[in-house]
Amino acid sequence: MLAAGLGTRMKSKRAKVLHELGGLPLIVHVARTAASLEPKSIIVIVGHQAEEVEKVVQTEIGELAKFAVQTEQRGTGDAVESARSLLENSASLLLVLSGDVPMIRLETLRKLIEHHRATSSDCSILTVRLENPTGYGRVIRDEQDRFVKIVEQKDASDEQRRVREINSGIYCFNTRKLFAALKQVKPANEQGEYYLTDVPAILLSEGDTVTCFLHTDSREVSGINTRAELAEFENLQRRNTIRKLMIETGVTFIDPSHAYISAEATIGRDCVIYPGVSIEGKSVLGEGCEVRAGARITNSRLGDNVTVKDFSIIVDSDVGSNCSIGPFAHLRMNARLEDKATVGNFVEVKKSKIGRGTKAMHLTYLGDATIGEGTNIGAGTITCNYDGVRKNETIIEDNVKIGSDTMLVAPVRVGARSVTGAGSVVTKDVPPDSLVAGVPAVVKKSSKKN
Ligand code: UD1
Ligand code: CA
Repeated sequence: MLAAGLGTRMKSKRAKVLHELGGLPLIVHVARTAASLEPKSIIVIVGHQAEEVEKVVQTEIGELAKFAVQTEQRGTGDAVESARSLLENSASLLLVLSGDVPMIRLETLRKLIEHHRATSSDCSILTVRLENPTGYGRVIRDEQDRFVKIVEQKDASDEQRRVREINSGIYCFNTRKLFAALKQVKPANEQGEYYLTDVPAILLSEGDTVTCFLHTDSREVSGINTRAELAEFENLQRRNTIRKLMIETGVTFIDPSHAYISAEATIGRDCVIYPGVSIEGKSVLGEGCEVRAGARITNSRLGDNVTVKDFSIIVDSDVGSNCSIGPFAHLRMNARLEDKATVGNFVEVKKSKIGRGTKAMHLTYLGDATIGEGTNIGAGTITCNYDGVRKNETIIEDNVKIGSDTMLVAPVRVGARSVTGAGSVVTKDVPPDSLVAGVPAVVKKSSKKN
């Protein structure tokens, strides 16, 4: 996998292969597909932001990945050259992939390898015909339609530029012959680079067999060179994901052109997705959920029949069935809602558990809290969880009524069935079955048990 380039045309400080498509770095798409071929190993040529590139690849495919550093980006031929010591004497078949061709499908790679073996080629080039071949290397053939050479856009004559068959940048090689031929590649071209694309013609001149495998789906082998192309493919992938959800799963999209759904998300049947919704990462939604306009759900799980009202944000959280969230609610850092819990307008829930049927309807912050079942959290309640040094816990037991505007100064516990008066500042634990009020709150009434 060639992934050392900066990608000048992206006009970015970030290496091109780290730019994301469908929420995943380009290189991760390629690594995933490559790993599905179950090769002996995958060698990634890294250069620009090598550390980050190595990290994302390793996270995706683990041990399978080996890395070769190309210190100076002197072209795709030089990139392969940097793996010489790792590869020269290894497997006989080498598949070369480009880190910036992320849409390539496993099936296509399998077919290319099959073709390579069936034709006993020393080099097989995956090619496609494009309506607009601008920017790509052109595949030049002779009168008998046999492969002659690849000519890069910048080095091509006007006539060559009219050729519509292009090099996808994906090849199969006889490893030994590739490395022998690489020694002959010279940077005698417009860009002063060592082109991998010179290798096929060199092999041919040595009497080796070079063939093209002409593929029909041009989208799949499109290289991403600019942000405009990236956006185009993002859009394409997004449309495919949504179409699949509508047709195969039975999800309703009020406006499919304005919904943003990760290819890794799972959405149950009869969910209804309103415009401007983003469902990111590995989110899972059960059946019959309704997600209203402008909501974002990232790496979270929702049970069945959950309503997420407009402009709510749910990140890294877990929501049971029949819950209602929002509008304008924010769940984050492992907020957990049990079934039938309700979190309403302008409520933020961080790292807290909210019990079954419990409600926090308005203007509330619940952080580092554990709240039992059937409890009601009045408007304007705040868990004062941060003392400037530590995050402290609040525990509210079952069937409690927290009065409006209560400040719960953590660490603190409110016992079952207790009530806090409006505006209370609770600094001490409240025993079960009591009423507290005031600033700081004192016990006004308590059951005999206490
Ligand atoms: C390359 C091909 C071109 C083909 C196109 C298909 C060459 C010379 N040209 O052109 O024929 O049509 O891909 O998408 O190979 N890279 C390195 N080190 C380098 C240079 C590049 O690792 O020194 C990596 C890049 O990070 C990238 C890949 O190789 O992932 C392709 O490089 P890029 O510069 O995008 O090549 P293209 O100009 O697109
Ligand atoms: Ca490219």
